[in-house]
Amino acid sequence: MATTMNLDEHLLIGGSWIDATGGARFDVTDPGSGARVGSVPNGTEADVTAAIDAAAAALPGWRSTPAIQRARILRKAADLMRERADLIATTMTSEQGKPLAEAKGEVEYAASFFEWFAGEAERVYGQIAPPMNTNNRVLVLRQPVGVVAAITPWNFPAAMMTRKLGPAMAAGCTSIVKPASATPLTAALVLRCIEDAGAPAGVVNLITSRDAGMVAKTIFSDDRVRKISFTGSTEIGKDLIRASADQVKRLSLELGGHAPYIIFDDADLDEAVDGLIASKFRNAGQTCVCANRVYVQRGVYDEFLKRLVAKVDAFKVGHGLTEGVVIGPMIDGRAVDKTEEHVQDAVAKGAKLASGGQRLTGGEFEGGAFYAPTVLDGVTNEMQIYYEETFGPVAGLTPFDTEDEAIAFANDSIYGLASYFHTKDYARLMRVAERLEYGIVGANAGIISAANAPFGGVKQSGYGREGGSVGIDEYLDVKYVLMGGVGTV
Ligand code: SIN
Repeated sequence: MATTMNLDEHLLIGGSWIDATGGARFDVTDPGSGARVGSVPNGTEADVTAAIDAAAAALPGWRSTPAIQRARILRKAADLMRERADLIATTMTSEQGKPLAEAKGEVEYAASFFEWFAGEAERVYGQIAPPMNTNNRVLVLRQPVGVVAAITPWNFPAAMMTRKLGPAMAAGCTSIVKPASATPLTAALVLRCIEDAGAPAGVVNLITSRDAGMVAKTIFSDDRVRKISFTGSTEIGKDLIRASADQVKRLSLELGGHAPYIIFDDADLDEAVDGLIASKFRNAGQTCVCANRVYVQRGVYDEFLKRLVAKVDAFKVGHGLTEGVVIGPMIDGRAVDKTEEHVQDAVAKGAKLASGGQRLTGGEFEGGAFYAPTVLDGVTNEMQIYYEETFGPVAGLTPFDTEDEAIAFANDSIYGLASYFHTKDYARLMRVAERLEYGIVGANAGIISAANAPFGGVKQSGYGREGGSVGIDEYLDVKYVLMGGVGTV
């Protein structure tokens, strides 16, 4: 199966949908078949500067628009995304690969950020601090940071964008969005919802380009851009930290993860198997919060492995638009190569293949980037997969004996985004949650993502939080006003 989509999109700059300066375009392809899905402009430096001009020009009007009005536009944008869910989800599956049901789920997840931040827009309160001096009063104001650049990844082409644009718009900031070049079409469809919801020209601007380095350089060297929010690899995140130094730009960074998934021997095993599957195999293992190391207490190890393998063996793999498929293609051949390298390295060093373990080619997989969902039995700390994020559909199991050992294994990572564990013991639940060195902990839960929760990591997984009541803080500056000569009451 291949997509039959043919969508040619444009840049959005200052309220106009336009071609790139010079007119160059690039094709977007279907990772499930290699077919062409559509095309977008290959934006240039002049286009990026024009987008920054537009965002800067729109800023005074947008930041002074009453919060309730900004909130209405966000709610309307969420409604439009739901009305257009079939088109957005089909486009997403065609350019990104995830099964259609997952893509529909992502459209809802993405819309929920607009709704959540509509509510937050209405509650950006300041403070009046108690005076230290009878003549003075201290006011604390929270004001929009200004023009924001959102650099978004291919794995969640809608939700990672709305998770940034929702709070930016709610706070009164204007934005430039640079989506991943693999998945620009979904981004354009979401921006059309924002525009059709009544956002004034220039409040959001879209730059598609194959030259991510040029886009970043132009953004980082323009003093009008005050904040960059990035979701992507730790390696690129470090480059952005370095690039932000010259103009001391604010950054929010959601970077790599390498999530531990611990199953204690008092866990509900069926719930733990389902939780692990939801965490590990969502989006073919291509999420920053995917379980990447599975630690199973020795007493339940064999039984857990047996139940997991029975379910993984039954997965239907194929093109994301094919009915019943639960595992789609990976984003491209390089992603398959890395997955294969991790599996081969583990097997060469003694892990056993309990399920999968090979590329899928020919027949219905022809032209696509497929890797079989895989379970490895007996992963050890000598293997690459133990320390590196695979970003693929591979669950590697390692046995452990004690709670202390599980926590030491889990915390032995440079990453600190998401972690998970299953237990029925509520004292242990509290203890383990507190000891895991991660920004997110799923306790008896394999899916932790939600608009009302603060998403983000510690260590080399980045800083800043997206979502929750604190998500809007990333887009607000705090200003204090000392009012002198007030006198006593
Ligand atoms: C990510 O993979 O970066 C985010 C996944 C999510 O929001 O659940």
